[in-house]
Amino acid sequence: AKDVSADLKEVLYTKEEIDQRVREMAAQIDRDYEGREVLLVGVLKGACMIMADLSRAMHSHLTMDWMAVSSYGSGTKSSGVVRILKDLDADLLNRHVLIAEDIIDSGLTLSWLKANLESRGPASVEICTLFRKPEAVKVDIDVKYVGMDIPNEFVVGYGLDFAEKYRNLDSVGILAPHVYE
Ligand code: PRP
Ligand code: MN
Ligand code: MG
Repeated sequence: AKDVSADLKEVLYTKEEIDQRVREMAAQIDRDYEGREVLLVGVLKGACMIMADLSRAMHSHLTMDWMAVSSYGSGTKSSGVVRILKDLDADLLNRHVLIAEDIIDSGLTLSWLKANLESRGPASVEICTLFRKPEAVKVDIDVKYVGMDIPNEFVVGYGLDFAEKYRNLDSVGILAPHVYE
């Protein structure tokens, strides 16, 4: 079978580079939350890899929960109007919530999600994202942990998809033009 990585025009970050950065973020989070138990919230489906790797690189006690959300309306992505497809199981009252995301693009999804979770009485809500596109961000959003700032290109791999594919790539890169054709 054809190797999925053959569809990349360029690798931006290798598996090793991602692992290294995730470990650094995990160590920082362990230090920052010392004495407080974190509830990691993953946003399906893109956050599957960062949740798995970040949580295993952390050494403190933590719990994990998941949400699935979807933009809706005109059909354009990230309209800013978000619908909950699967809500958290956990009660957030007095919890220290850390949202884990693969990428902040326009920021509309997380801006909405952070406000939504903040309304549930948590002790704190912070955001950890592996990638952020500073040129694409449309809303002012306070993000405590950012792995890498990347150029405004369509990237796939490590949870990030194109038409639901490429999430299983262990590196992150830019799709080759022939994929769209
Ligand atoms: C992607 C990505 C983020 C969001 C970022 O999710 O995983 O969750 O878009 O975009 P924004 O900053 O412009 O709101 P997507 O909606 O593609 O769902 P997925 O995680 O299932 O791929
Ligand atoms: Mn997502
Ligand atoms: Mg997606």
